[in-house]
Amino acid sequence: MLLSLLFWALVVLSSVAALLAAAWLLKELTMGLCFCRRTLKGKTVLVTGGTAGVGYEAALEFARRGASVVITGRNMTKVLTHASMS
Ligand SMILES: NC(=O)c1ccc[n+]([C@@H]2O[C@H](COP(=O)([O-])OP(=O)(O)OC[C@H]3O[C@@H](n4cnc5c(N)ncnc54)[C@H](OP(=O)(O)O)[C@@H]3O)[C@@H](O)[C@H]2O)c1
Repeated sequence: MLLSLLFWALVVLSSVAALLAAAWLLKELTMGLCFCRRTLKGKTVLVTGGTAGVGYEAALEFARRGASVVITGRNMTKVLTHASMS
C-alpha cells in the first residue's frame, strides 16, 4: 500500500516536473517572437534611435505592417541608408 502510494506520488511529481520543463522550454524557444499581425495602415510612427539596434528592428516591423515610419538620427548617411532599407 505504502509502496503504491509512493509510486503514484512519484508519477504525479514527475509529470508536473515534465510539464513545467516543457513550459519553460516553450518560453525559451519563443522568447522575442512576435505573433501579432495587427495592421498599422494609416498610422504614422516616430522612432527615435531608429538607425540601429532595437529602434531599427522596431521601425522595420512597423513599416512591414504598413505604417508610415519616421526615424531620427544624428548621422544623415545612416538615417538615409536605413530609411531606404525599410
Ligand atoms: N539591446 C538590448 O538588449 C537592450 C536591452 C535593454 C535595454 N536596452 C536599451 O535600449 C536602448 C537601445 O538599445 P540598442 O541595443 O538598440 O542600442 P544601439 O544599437 O546602440 O542603438 C542606438 C540608437 O540610439 C541612437 N542614439 C545613441 N545615442 C544617442 C544620442 N546621444 N542622441 C540621439 N540618439 C542616440 C543611435 O542613433 P545614431 O545613428 O544617431 O547613432 C541609434 O539609432 C538603449 O537605451 C539600451 O540601453 C537595450
